[in-house]
Amino acid sequence: MESTAKKEHVAALLKKGVLVSPDFVEQADASIKPGEDLLILDSEANKLLSKKEKNVNWREIEKIRVMYEKGKASLPSIEDIAPVSDENKLKDTQIIASYKTAPQKIDISHFVGYFNTRYRLIEGLLRGRPELQNLLSVIRLKNRAVPSNASIIGIVNEKRETKNKNFIVTLEDSTGQQKVVINKNRADLYNEARELVTDEVVGVSGSYRQGVMFANSIVFPDIPLLELKKSPKEEYLAGMSDLHFGSKQFMPDEFNRFLSWVNLEAGNRKQKEIAEKLKYILIAGDIVDGIGVYNNQYSELSIHDLKEQYDACAKALSEIPEHISIVISPGNHDAVRMPEPQPPLDNKFTQKLVKLKNVLLVSNPAMVKIGAKEGFSGFNCLLYHGYSFDYYVANVDAIRLKGGYERADLIMKFLLKRRHLAPSHTSTLINPSPDHDALFIEPVPDFFITGHIHRTSVSNYKSTTLINGSCWQSMTSFQERLGHNPQPARLPLINLKTRDANIINFGK
Ligand SMILES: [Fe+2]
Ligand SMILES: [Fe+2]
Repeated sequence: MESTAKKEHVAALLKKGVLVSPDFVEQADASIKPGEDLLILDSEANKLLSKKEKNVNWREIEKIRVMYEKGKASLPSIEDIAPVSDENKLKDTQIIASYKTAPQKIDISHFVGYFNTRYRLIEGLLRGRPELQNLLSVIRLKNRAVPSNASIIGIVNEKRETKNKNFIVTLEDSTGQQKVVINKNRADLYNEARELVTDEVVGVSGSYRQGVMFANSIVFPDIPLLELKKSPKEEYLAGMSDLHFGSKQFMPDEFNRFLSWVNLEAGNRKQKEIAEKLKYILIAGDIVDGIGVYNNQYSELSIHDLKEQYDACAKALSEIPEHISIVISPGNHDAVRMPEPQPPLDNKFTQKLVKLKNVLLVSNPAMVKIGAKEGFSGFNCLLYHGYSFDYYVANVDAIRLKGGYERADLIMKFLLKRRHLAPSHTSTLINPSPDHDALFIEPVPDFFITGHIHRTSVSNYKSTTLINGSCWQSMTSFQERLGHNPQPARLPLINLKTRDANIINFGK
């Protein structure tokens, strides 16, 4: 473009309130017309506009970019993700989803693709649900001239409480935004609306009149109620997390008691019977304490070298009999990048762990299948460390007021109901794949194993068993500041034939 024309074009954009970056000016194209909600034009935005990308939520993109930039200091590199299918050395465990990385520059189109994919996946679960009668797009709803009953699906753009204590929720789909009123006198509905968080995707059915929708029901993607799967063979699964090797607060005596038990050298008769039948140990992250994870952590470490922390962990895990399969996914203290999905712990720090014959390293999150036998399809196990949990404890009253960090069960149920491990974009750091959402919960897990909040919890939601895997670290100053109340040195165990739960306490 000629420089005068370029200047005029930029001036016109500025007049509309659109900020223009220097790299956009370089490539400015007068044929490009930004949407009404665009705030900043730069070369990345330019690319999308020139591709005529539809349904770009610019405000969301800016929000995520700011969040991503803030976290940049802790990112070793920007990576792509791809499913792992060929790295399983365990015969009795099948990888359904695990994500490894390859270096690739992330640009704005990855985020756009990611948000569109995420929306499409959840919308796909909601579409066709019998509760959503007369399902319309927002624009078609708005075209209704007479009051009518209808349903819409949308992403929660905003939620606010009115002076009269009703909720007004703004739902958005690719065709527009619609305000939905939730009346405080509808107790069940009101409680569900209290739990709604920004960015989650839900369906609403109700009556539409004069531009407003009055909700009769909120429909969550949720997991279906399936028959409780039981193995034909009596075997046990243990859910663990948060070993924190290398921390001064790591509990060696308690962990050694666990190792003695697993080698049938300790415990009462019943406990030894369980140890004999223990077949799987699934560990959901924070294998070591790491280095520099929080301010002043260094003075709270007993091992000050990351590789030595993993060596100590590998040495301890090598004492677990080889017939027991161990699946390990990383957490926020581990030696991999923070944005999720975090890749498997296979790097220069973890080589001794990699060499253990009965250890399978998977990403966070990951889905593995265990216990399959002739005539039995096995159990789907979802491992997720739980970095997003902090956000929901702080922002969802239905969790915060019922115990917060002490209610791992409520947090996990909340996420299963939304079929997503981080339904609010800001609840975790995401490494976006343009055509895949690793945090979308599919297939429905039989076991959902988490950690991070250092609680011991076993509960059921529909046909899924929810486990938070305790920890092997007493309270650190960091946890004290976060308001955690750890329950260390306990091991949740599930009998796969009966689905009964046991918790063994290896504390003093
Ligand atoms: Fe932890
Ligand atoms: Fe953690």
